[in-house]
Amino acid sequence: MADIICVIGNKGGTGKTTLSHMLCQGLGLLGQRSVCVLTDTWREPLDPASRRYLVADARSREALTKVTDKIRTLPAWMGVIDGGGNRTEMDRKLYGMADLVLLPFRDSHEDIRTVMRDLEMFPRAYAIPTQWPTNAWAREAAEKTVQDMLAPYRDRLLEPVFSLSASKLMLQKEIPVALPTPLANAARSVAHQVLDLLQISIDHAAAGSGVPIKPRAAMAAPTMAAAMRAQPAMAA
Ligand SMILES: Nc1ncnc2c1ncn2[C@@H]1O[C@H](COP(=O)(O)OP(=O)(O)OP(=O)(O)O)[C@@H](O)[C@H]1O
Ligand SMILES: [Mg+2]
Repeated sequence: MADIICVIGNKGGTGKTTLSHMLCQGLGLLGQRSVCVLTDTWREPLDPASRRYLVADARSREALTKVTDKIRTLPAWMGVIDGGGNRTEMDRKLYGMADLVLLPFRDSHEDIRTVMRDLEMFPRAYAIPTQWPTNAWAREAAEKTVQDMLAPYRDRLLEPVFSLSASKLMLQKEIPVALPTPLANAARSVAHQVLDLLQISIDHAAAGSGVPIKPRAAMAAPTMAAAMRAQPAMAA
């Protein structure tokens, strides 16, 4: 049966749509078949040409049920559902149907306070830093803020998706046939994290032919989240 991954969160503009498309592209690059599902009534569907995944329009309640029911019947496929900001009821519904839930947040106190509330509301969800600073000083400051504010949730914190100007290509109606290497690498990296959480193993020989193998051995622990997990527990 297919896995459903939902990208949700109460704050707008955190990068849900960009992350959903990057994740699907990364899954495609790793040989996994996926569908990126649009639920945001304010947005238009994007052209599937040149993408390594399908796109589905589920902007109405009926369409969402139909699309997710269909995805569920496709063995070894993945459905990535792009939520919309500020829609708690919809987020609850998506959370209820998901095998994995991602809550993107940016480097701001407001985003972090919101993601803390979402982590409380959605106890199976993982927080993923997005649009993360790449400048060494800014990155250090951002990681310090995360360590201070998100320590109680460190086991549910994923590695960041860095700020990458090319990421806006994913939200163009049509994407270029060849994506810039840093974007492809970032997409693969986020897909690896997700496959790891879902315990889906990529057979590297088969990557490209779309053959998943379950379960997957734990990958080497990544840096930021691993560094936080190594810290002694702080009082919540
Ligand atoms: N990794 C990134 N690097 C640089 N810019 C990014 C990245 N991710 C998202 N952005 C930019 O941030 C803005 C908001 O992104 P996006 O539309 O994906 O957020 P969203 O959470 O889906 O917003 P909404 O709540 O309106 O649905 C866009 O301009 C997008 O290009
Ligand atoms: Mg969006």
